[in-house]
Amino acid sequence: RKDILGLQEMTVEEIDLILDTAEALKDLATRPIKKVPTLRGKAIVTLFYENSTRTARSFELAAKYLGADVINVSAATSSVQKGETLKDTARNLEAMGIDAVVVRHSMGGAPHLLARALRASVINAGDGLHEHPTQGLLDMLTIRQRKGGFKGLKVAIVGDSYHSRVARSNIYGLSKYGAEIWLAGPSTLLARGFEAYGVRTTTRVEEALEGADVVNVLRLQLERQEKGLFPTVAEYHKFWGVTEARLRLAKPDALLMHPGPMNRGVEISTAVADGAQSVITEQVTNGVAVRMALLYLLLGGGEPA
Ligand code: CP
Repeated sequence: RKDILGLQEMTVEEIDLILDTAEALKDLATRPIKKVPTLRGKAIVTLFYENSTRTARSFELAAKYLGADVINVSAATSSVQKGETLKDTARNLEAMGIDAVVVRHSMGGAPHLLARALRASVINAGDGLHEHPTQGLLDMLTIRQRKGGFKGLKVAIVGDSYHSRVARSNIYGLSKYGAEIWLAGPSTLLARGFEAYGVRTTTRVEEALEGADVVNVLRLQLERQEKGLFPTVAEYHKFWGVTEARLRLAKPDALLMHPGPMNRGVEISTAVADGAQSVITEQVTNGVAVRMALLYLLLGGGEPA
């Protein structure tokens, strides 16, 4: 495979290989001396048309830990501001000799356009409402490490699934392994059309949380919503916010996840975000491992040493 565009088109065998490779590489990120020469001589660009802390910086660190050269291009400070198109921007970067482009864009399908236009590998770092495959993979690694697998787990994805590429990548990935996936949230913010993946939807967050093994709380994406859309932030927290009382409906050992950035006091209370069941910072750590694995598999080749 030249590119990583989404979990929808990936096989279970491919996902297993990525997660196994991430586990093999994970220790590297916690060693005192982190750098290895595995990808020495390779050049990677992160090309971000939307803001990012976790995805952009963990790709940068993953590339550096593996010895690659990495440059970061943000649309806000590049010639995109002078009207240069996405394809021209990427082709110019490729002409400088880059081997992989990590791209985030507000339009679904932007990474697919680049994948067709470039010889370099393209990794989707989030495209519109479509997919965020590396977030889906790091979520899966976190669940697999804690729960040993996915089959039969009740996974409650709570919040604004309509605008969430994270929810879609979770659905595409977890459904391949037989997880029972629930989407809960206000009817105006529920993603639709996932019945074929066995996904159930409810406007009652309690129904989704009852007996859940994993609770994945989504950010209320205020920047993507039309003004005046129901519910207000206060209504949202009252009826759908994940609080300690609501989390008690899930299994006592349920994992509490959030892709970040969090709106504390909106979709999640601070007590829950920082509580004993939270694996939110573990997700971030696993993000570096998953991104190292992808760069290694795309650019380094072979099985991990
Ligand atoms: N989870 C995630 O994509 O975070 P960033 O927007 O900070 O990359």
